[in-house]
Amino acid sequence: ADGDAAKGEKIFRKCAACHAVGEGAENKVGPELNNILGRGIAAEADFTYSDALTALAEAEGEWTPEKLATFLEKPRDYAKGTKMSFAGLRKEDERADVIAYLATFQ
Ligand code: HEM
Repeated sequence: ADGDAAKGEKIFRKCAACHAVGEGAENKVGPELNNILGRGIAAEADFTYSDALTALAEAEGEWTPEKLATFLEKPRDYAKGTKMSFAGLRKEDERADVIAYLATFQ
């Protein structure tokens, strides 16, 4: 189901401690998330990723909505050893909504 970007903006508050998105977004604890759909996994040049995310990039290539949803459900399951310290978004609609929000920054 398509997500609701307005709801996703509120959900993104959980992410914003570590991630910026939008005009002028810079890397923080986590990489900036502009153009994340279709962007290579672990591809932000000025960010130092974990070996786990670099290995995921070799296996999986680019972020799609499906891969983002899988990662965001349980980051440490999809990318074992990731340094993203976030338990995940358990609800499917929350994942869809935050992905719809991120899609507004393509
Ligand atoms: C990585 C999204 C919450 C820290 C990533 C990536 C995405 C993402 C898409 C991969 C970026 C890439 O491949 O360039 C999100 C979303 C969140 C969230 C949507 C909220 C639902 C958080 C939080 C933290 C965090 C709360 C800090 C406590 C990181 C770090 C990485 C990362 C450090 C790099 C992971 C690694 O190299 O293993 N995040 N994130 N994220 N995120 Fe998050």
